[in-house]
Amino acid sequence: MAVQLSRTFELFERAMRVVPGGIYGHQTPALLVPGSYPYFFARGDGSHVWDVDGNEYIDYLCSYGPIVVGHCHPAVEEAVLRQMRDGNCFNAPTPLWIELAEHLVELTPFADWAVFAKNGSDVCTWAVEVARAATGRRKVVKAAGAYHGTHAWCSPLPAGITDEDRANVLEVPWNDLSALTALVTSESSAIAAIILTPFRHDAFHDSELPVDGYLAGVRRLCDQHGIVFILDDVRAGFRLHLGGSGEYFGVRPDLACYCKAIANGYALSACVGREAFRNAAQDVFFTGSYFTSGVPMAAALACLRTLAAEDGIARMDALGRRLCEGLDRAARAHDLRVTTSGPPALPFMSFADDPGQSLNRVFCAAMAERGIYLHPHHNWFMSAAHTEADIDRTVDRAEQAFKIVAAER
Ligand SMILES: Cc1ncc(COP(=O)(O)O)c(C=O)c1O
Repeated sequence: MAVQLSRTFELFERAMRVVPGGIYGHQTPALLVPGSYPYFFARGDGSHVWDVDGNEYIDYLCSYGPIVVGHCHPAVEEAVLRQMRDGNCFNAPTPLWIELAEHLVELTPFADWAVFAKNGSDVCTWAVEVARAATGRRKVVKAAGAYHGTHAWCSPLPAGITDEDRANVLEVPWNDLSALTALVTSESSAIAAIILTPFRHDAFHDSELPVDGYLAGVRRLCDQHGIVFILDDVRAGFRLHLGGSGEYFGVRPDLACYCKAIANGYALSACVGREAFRNAAQDVFFTGSYFTSGVPMAAALACLRTLAAEDGIARMDALGRRLCEGLDRAARAHDLRVTTSGPPALPFMSFADDPGQSLNRVFCAAMAERGIYLHPHHNWFMSAAHTEADIDRTVDRAEQAFKIVAAER
């Protein structure tokens, strides 16, 4: 099915001349089937986006997470415009700095304070440093393959990184409490922090929920050995529970990192923490030219209040379930076996016996050509702006795309 993408390719050619790789990082087109996906977008409204060639898509990537109440939600945009008229960036914060910190502390049962930055990477790295300052220890334990950002200690690719950058990082398999217990027992006097995402959402992999007792076991180990438990909730935060994904899975960390959905697309990240770490949080130098900007904070307050007022969390859960059930049904009608994984608000689908996810590339490309934006190797995101009609249309298009996959198999 031909899709008109001439403007996308024209712009990409221009970008390649002046930007290394054209578009880099997680939005690189290298992971997508060329000719099926747009590389540049022009606008968004609710659950729909339009590319630079005028093609319309139902958006299941939500900008890789940030858009949680829908593109251009009026409550968020009004709050943004109001603050923009007064100014964004000053010599000191606006009062929104306090209002938002108070709001996060109120929402999060274990938290007594909050700090703000711009990216998930900023707060994940800072949380590790706070754990080191609090414990006087050096090492950090993470799950193998888990993504915590672009900084040298955890960047997924080796270019530009030295062995020394990784010297204090220990890795264990996700969901393996015995391996973690063995590591902690042998190294406990050196371990400052265990940092985990609330569920496994590695790219190129089905999502995996924590098995019964895993996160509680992590909590217990941290308590027994004086280790700081950091929940990296950058990707899932505010999609599963307003009090953080720890509440959804029944665990309370010491520090939790947020970004993505906190401000519906405006640049902001946050770390919240317990009283016991307030002094360490004060000691670790943390700043950035835009950390105190008012506009993203106005957006965050409006976004979090809208999520609560519209019962967005329950909505995303219900819509995600409807999507997964529909895809599963449509696949079976073509004699295909698919796995839907992850919490319904951050769903993912892959094909059985498709280790390189090459069938998923065919499927997602066919969906993009039919106006449904999915990623073949990265979990998807629901927003509170998706509708039942969006899901039903998606399942209808999936029936056509599964037919193509069945023919290629
Ligand atoms: C779990 C997790 N941690 C950290 C990050 C890094 O966030 P950022 O890209 O805002 O630096 C991401 C980004 O995708 C993430 O998913």
